[in-house]
Amino acid sequence: MCGIVGYVGQNNAKDILLEGLKRLEYRGYDSAGIAIRNADGIQMTKVKGRVAELENRLQPNMVGTLGIGHTRWATHGEPSIINAHPHFSQNGRFCMVHNGVIENYSQLKNEYLSGTSLISKTDTEIIVQLMEKMYEKLNDVEEAFRETMRLLNGSYAIAMIDAEDMSNLYVSKNKSPLLIGVGDGFHVVTSDAIATIKETNRYVDIQDKEIAFISSDRVAIKKLNGESIERTGFEVELDSSEIEKGSYAHYMLKEIDEQPIVIRRILEKYQGENEDILIDPNIRIGMNQADRIYIIAAGTSYHAGLVGKGYLEKLAGIPTEVHIASEFNYNMPLLSENPFFLFISQSGETADSRAVLVQIKRMGFPTMTITNVPGSTLSREADFTLPLYAGPEIAVASTKAYTAQLAVLALLAADIAIYKGLKLDFNFKQEMAIVANAIETLCDQKDRFRELSQEYFTNTRNAFFIGRSADYYVAMEGALKLKEISYIQAEGFAGGELKHGTIALIEDGTPVIALVTQNNVDGLIRGNVQEVVARGAHPMVISIEGQEEKGDTCTIPAVHEILSPLVSVVPLQLLAYYAALQRNCDVDKPRNLAKSVTVE
Ligand code: F6R
Repeated sequence: MCGIVGYVGQNNAKDILLEGLKRLEYRGYDSAGIAIRNADGIQMTKVKGRVAELENRLQPNMVGTLGIGHTRWATHGEPSIINAHPHFSQNGRFCMVHNGVIENYSQLKNEYLSGTSLISKTDTEIIVQLMEKMYEKLNDVEEAFRETMRLLNGSYAIAMIDAEDMSNLYVSKNKSPLLIGVGDGFHVVTSDAIATIKETNRYVDIQDKEIAFISSDRVAIKKLNGESIERTGFEVELDSSEIEKGSYAHYMLKEIDEQPIVIRRILEKYQGENEDILIDPNIRIGMNQADRIYIIAAGTSYHAGLVGKGYLEKLAGIPTEVHIASEFNYNMPLLSENPFFLFISQSGETADSRAVLVQIKRMGFPTMTITNVPGSTLSREADFTLPLYAGPEIAVASTKAYTAQLAVLALLAADIAIYKGLKLDFNFKQEMAIVANAIETLCDQKDRFRELSQEYFTNTRNAFFIGRSADYYVAMEGALKLKEISYIQAEGFAGGELKHGTIALIEDGTPVIALVTQNNVDGLIRGNVQEVVARGAHPMVISIEGQEEKGDTCTIPAVHEILSPLVSVVPLQLLAYYAALQRNCDVDKPRNLAKSVTVE
């Protein structure tokens, strides 16, 4: 993962880089560093830990108009100051930051760097040392940079400065995101426009295996063979106020609260004037022609895909399979004759999903991405994109993007159903509006969920979430939320499956959270609750209005059954939030994680 940022212009680069790194911290927060080129050469500061720590360590005299910065999620080499970026070449001339993984770093090290003493354990240092070697050979920075990039296999977004050059940033990328921001008299480079949106909303993308030489007033993009490329830019629509926390203690709580607004925005964006759904007709035609839809995703987006399968099969009548992205490429199932591939990714940058997309495009099948970031790699590279319109999601734990994914998947399935002349037994827009109100009602009950969280999770080391049918998928998401931010070991299970082994883990007081929103399995899941209660579990039953029974812990407002996952997940998000808070965990930046996972 990691986030990189660079600046060349007229102002002090340090402030812009620092602000950018704070915004990029969601990509990793093991260590951070900044290097500034000024009249004294290159000044660098690195820390193990957060960007806030870096800010405390920066010297006031670190001033210069050209610089690079990095926030790291460790892959090669433990989190430490030595392994933090930027890295220098041996003679101190070239200084580099890198996001990605260099697959052939051992081979490069053996072949080119036998006489070089490496300081860090990172693959990045190999690149910058290689750059020095290439420069010794070619005596031209541009050519040496190009030659170095040509030797790399793997994923990378790289930014480099040169101690003997006051004016240029050198960048390149392959498979990892990198954008060039264009301002009046300055340029920025960034892993994500969110980091530099306060500086500019105009961006140019560089594509895989391209390099760019960037000064304050000029961008030269080239292929690795030196051929120049002309590329027009695009405007990023992002309101910088959307990336502020406002009066909230954490982004996660703000984002949970934003869910009703997001649902209403999705309805507005996708509903045409005559109640028709505004989706590119080629999407519904393409999907309708498919004999099978393959949903590819990871983590929370995978959980959304599982619910989405229900929508596509039950509403649109298209057989659908859901696959974990990191498994699919290397253990590919037998594909149907006319598949359609649907990638679900909040960030649009997940390397596991992107690896599948690259492979599927090679095979020539149609592809679509459902993402919150329309300019992202998965969005640019798929044939079609459906945006989530959820606004930036900053907390590492995904909440509003998940409900937005469900809303867009439901809408897509409804659209195909209408196109196929299938009858929907409900008014989609009306039911979605009820969903938005129901989420609002739950968000107003925060005190109740805080108390429940205290009661169930204060002293527990594990917890189980159970459900049947669509509730099972929501249970998986509830468990993921709890474990990723509170570090309580939690698993989501199909209610009927517990007795086939996992019930052995139930002890006196083990919290078991059961979802009861699906009418046809109501009795069965309640039976499963009794099974764990008989073994000492502390049950929490979350039922839906209309299916509630005396003794249920809480009841969510009634919504159309097929849309209940959009609502039943909200108590689970709030329970997880308060559990993390109680345990003094860093809610927005849980340990070992990063928001955008750009390594396979
Ligand atoms: C969990 C979470 C992750 C992501 C996963 C995929 O809260 O956010 O599990 O869902 O890393 O990320 P995207 O959706 O960006 O592809």
